[in-house]
Amino acid sequence: MRKDLKSLLAGKLEPWELKLLYKSYDIVGDIAVIRVPESLEQRDGIIAEAIMQAHKRVKAVWRQVSPVSGDFRLRELEWVAGERKTETVHKEHGCLFKVDLEKCYFSPRLSYERIRIAQHVQPGEVVVNMFAGVGCYSIVIARHSEAKKIYSIDVNPIAVRCMQENVKLNKVEGRVVPIQGDAKKVVEERLRKIADRIIMPLPERAYEYLDCAVQSLKQTGGWIHYYDFEHAKKNENPVEKIESKVSKKLQMLGVDFYVPFGRIVRVTGPNWYQVVLDIEVKGTYV
Ligand SMILES: C[S@@+](CC[C@H](N)C(=O)[O-])C[C@H]1O[C@@H](n2cnc3c(N)ncnc32)[C@H](O)[C@@H]1O
Repeated sequence: MRKDLKSLLAGKLEPWELKLLYKSYDIVGDIAVIRVPESLEQRDGIIAEAIMQAHKRVKAVWRQVSPVSGDFRLRELEWVAGERKTETVHKEHGCLFKVDLEKCYFSPRLSYERIRIAQHVQPGEVVVNMFAGVGCYSIVIARHSEAKKIYSIDVNPIAVRCMQENVKLNKVEGRVVPIQGDAKKVVEERLRKIADRIIMPLPERAYEYLDCAVQSLKQTGGWIHYYDFEHAKKNENPVEKIESKVSKKLQMLGVDFYVPFGRIVRVTGPNWYQVVLDIEVKGTYV
């Protein structure tokens, strides 16, 4: 088990400073990404040193100074310690992902989701990953299932370039097919009615693309793995809230569906949750 930041820094920071510290940090390949409250910015060197001491493979530490934002879902990083590099290779489920943390989205926190989805994929399936980033879901699926093709769309050309390299690194050429462009346009132009399974890992905007996901499914139906963010008070269930919102839209689209599974992927803020729904579509008329 990885120690949290408060334990790593016990005895190195004042008790009041420890109280302000965010507990978690990410390690992607040999790079660590930390978040530090403004009042502790002077202490980021000590924090970085503690991480590098505890994790000998970490060669660079960067501080995240903005939330994830924009079409490409990027975050601003400021260098703290070690090498001044943002490019690395991350290992997950026996796969390798080359990623430039400054220019592409990547989160090691979705690791369980990637293998969970891969374990649902049946031999011979055609999968469309509408928001593929550097190809993590697609490559984990290719390596852990007998999927026939995994069309993998992303609007960020740098992410697609990394994805192309990752396809080679993981020897999944011909099965994972990187495509650069807007998912809606790509589906309309070349991926209508072909998929057994759709993955929608863009929680900020997946709702807008639901009709497009349905268009990409075979007319006999299939599965949609739908991600979204939801606010929920103590007495509310974020999964139920998302299911109700999505169900209304699918009913409007005339889709026959069933939601056998949903879960909270992670807590993203006070009363805010990232949620996934596995939606079984029985048949489509679009
Ligand atoms: C939250 S990231 C997820 C990336 C990847 N699936 C992963 O788990 O690492 C969402 C990705 O969607 C891409 N994106 C945003 N809008 C898009 C669109 N309209 N069409 C295709 N890709 C889009 C972004 O560039 C980003 O790489």
